[in-house]
Amino acid sequence: MKSPGHTPIYVTQPYMPPLEDFIPYLEKIWDSRRLTNHGPMHEHLEEALAEYLGVEHIALFSNGTLALVTALQALRITGEVITTPYSFIATAHSLRWNGIEPVFVDIDPLTLNLDPTKIEAAITPKTTAILPVHCYGNPCNVEAVQKIADTYNLKVIYDAAHAFGVRDAGGSILRHGDLSVLSFHATKVFTTFEGGAIVCPDKKTKARIDNLKNFGIVDETTVVAPGINGKMAEVNAAFGLLQLKHIDKALARRREIGAKYGELLKDVPGIECVQQREGNGTNFSYYPILVGQDYPLSRDALFERLREKGIHGRRYFYPLITEFPMYRGMPGASRSNLPVATKVATDVICLPIYPNLTDDEVENIAALIRGIQ
Ligand SMILES: Cc1ncc(COP(=O)(O)O)c(C=O)c1O
Repeated sequence: MKSPGHTPIYVTQPYMPPLEDFIPYLEKIWDSRRLTNHGPMHEHLEEALAEYLGVEHIALFSNGTLALVTALQALRITGEVITTPYSFIATAHSLRWNGIEPVFVDIDPLTLNLDPTKIEAAITPKTTAILPVHCYGNPCNVEAVQKIADTYNLKVIYDAAHAFGVRDAGGSILRHGDLSVLSFHATKVFTTFEGGAIVCPDKKTKARIDNLKNFGIVDETTVVAPGINGKMAEVNAAFGLLQLKHIDKALARRREIGAKYGELLKDVPGIECVQQREGNGTNFSYYPILVGQDYPLSRDALFERLREKGIHGRRYFYPLITEFPMYRGMPGASRSNLPVATKVATDVICLPIYPNLTDDEVENIAALIRGIQ
């Protein structure tokens, strides 16, 4: 096991292809002198990702947060939007950056995603959209969400920051809703250092998104909207093209690690592996465990014990978004309205998972968790 002086193990580590393989991409950029503004790497990556993911159109962004902000603008969302408190803070921030009021609804105890059975009660005349998150890459109940959206004429934007490569029986999970938003941040399964994307079903919406991410500029003399600078640069797109060559291997290794944790932790009283639940369709972007009453230590005590041994898990997502001062007073934010999310946030630890994590390391982490009396 890790002792002082050993390299710490963090919750994630980016998959880095061999450096020498990146040089030819850089040479091309140097030769072309195209650094940004829809250069050849950017165009190539959009095509390659649409094909790999099995989606119609994809618009690249400099990060996932700007993609979320722009997705809401592209659909002209206003008023109130129903969303989950159990996510990274950027989900709710993207609403505030558009002057939209988030309305928080509790999560489903099985999927840990927005609970569709609780959405209807939160709809008001000001509601215009639903913003669910495929948390940890576990698909939302997309059919139930769409049914409500159709009944009340609401748009659906999925925060799919964790859901790269996730599929259901009909194809990519990203085809659901009106738009899906990806993050390619360094901590994500597929990374471009910083980056993100909007997946959209039609050319017209893609053109609007492309304008909005480039200041609203249509041509030299036409600006149609107060757009932002959300463009992905060539160097990031080039890294994405190289990453894509390794992604199947990286996803397969995550699955292996997930299965190993599942096997090693399955009989530990008080520990539940969320990704081992029946019907779970995750890409193993995260490996959350829930530390229950039957475990000898509290969640926080286990978290600290692991840290002392150099194992840096993360309490994603704790605190809930609704615990932060800018969201505390918002509709639906009270703990009594969010019993499931409140409980899960106090029980969860995400264990380290990334392609270069070795079997020995996984075994050592699991042994440490099992060994506590
Ligand atoms: C659920 C979720 N939404 C949005 C984001 C924001 O993405 P980015 O960091 O690329 O801006 C992240 C991650 O960073 C995330 O985990």
